[in-house]
Amino acid sequence: MPRILLVTGAAGFIGSNFVELALEAGYAVVGYDALTYAGHRENLAAFEKHPKFTFVQGNILDQELFYSTLQKHQVTWVAHFAAESHVDKSISGPGAFIETNVNGTYSLLMAARKHYEGLSSTEKPRFRFLHVSTDEVFGELGPTGKFSETTPYAPNSPYSASKAASDLLVRAWFHTYGLPTIITNCSNNYGPRQFPEKLIPHMIFCALQGKALPVYGKGENIRDWIHVKDHARGVLLALEKGIPGETYCFGGNSERKNLDVVHALCSTLDELRPRSAGGSYRDLISFVTDRPGHDFRYAIDDSKAQRELGYVHHFKNFESGLKETIAWYLSNLEWSKQVTSKPGVKVSYDWSKI
Ligand code: NAD
Ligand code: DAU
Repeated sequence: MPRILLVTGAAGFIGSNFVELALEAGYAVVGYDALTYAGHRENLAAFEKHPKFTFVQGNILDQELFYSTLQKHQVTWVAHFAAESHVDKSISGPGAFIETNVNGTYSLLMAARKHYEGLSSTEKPRFRFLHVSTDEVFGELGPTGKFSETTPYAPNSPYSASKAASDLLVRAWFHTYGLPTIITNCSNNYGPRQFPEKLIPHMIFCALQGKALPVYGKGENIRDWIHVKDHARGVLLALEKGIPGETYCFGGNSERKNLDVVHALCSTLDELRPRSAGGSYRDLISFVTDRPGHDFRYAIDDSKAQRELGYVHHFKNFESGLKETIAWYLSNLEWSKQVTSKPGVKVSYDWSKI
């Protein structure tokens, strides 16, 4: 039986990169997305006409529409990426995070269970509901150690608390109802099509405009950067080889202080697009008020995924992946202009200066 993959959040950053990979791997894909301020049909432009791709504009809170989409397309695997994903936004307005991340995941689980119950005895063992989560559910690390699948949950922001709550719902649906669920927890992604509210694209567009580069606190917080294509490959492997009820962590094996990331970004821009005003983009770095409750450090031990799924990092060097990513943004300025010019978008850039 062919695998029909339904991808929620397909029009977002990681979702669209995952759709691209799944189509390349030969799967039929149904993209499901509400197209919030963070979701864009532009992200799906390259495969809109692909014979194995269908798009449904829908909210994950719409249980009926989601259920009818599962039925209509005879979906065998769900990869659930849709979420409110920006930590700063969760601090200024937590309500949308509870609504989408917690209630939305509950709604999907209800619909997925109804769909699963109606499958034949040969189809049932093949069904999977994979929930994409974050390393932020584990809280923060000190200078040493790494998160793994056995780390207790200790979320610190409204975003990570909402993701933790959704993970626990997914876990309960496996244990109570036997829905074949898998959870993945990943570290900070970078790569093409990331919405410019997140550190790397935001810094690129501030720099190109000659605006201050706002580094929170002293820039000493550490993140473990993974290329989005490596994350997408990990999620596909978890669908193909993962065991229901299990969780798998993915990291990038690339821990960097935020200030080092911004320095690397400035050096690359100095090389690829020297400042017309002269000097280095580093001159624009400005230390600003820290994020409240800012987690100090994240790092992932993904040896379980390597051992059990055959997961490997294709992007081994963060700085060269970053250079490729910056080059992508420089040659896709129109994309950034379009996605940041929509209603509800908080970041704004003066495109006449870029
Ligand atoms: P994103 O903000 O770029 O995309 C989110 C997508 O979900 C958008 O297309 C948006 O339209 C859609 N969406 C939001 N609310 C919806 C709703 N109610 N109904 C239907 N669609 C809705 O996010 P991203 O960075 O691609 O993250 C995708 C997933 O991966 C999230 O679950 C996030 O928690 C998780 N994650 C992200 C990272 C990261 O570094 N970005 C790391 C680990 C895990
Ligand atoms: O760890 C995985 C998580 O990574 C995902 O679950 C989230 O969806 C994703 O947004 C990301 O969360 P972060 O908060 O780590 O990402 P962000 O890009 O917002 O910030 C990265 C670091 O850079 C963080 O320590 C805060 C800092 N920062 C961020 C911005 C936007 C700055 O110093 N200045 C900024 O302007």
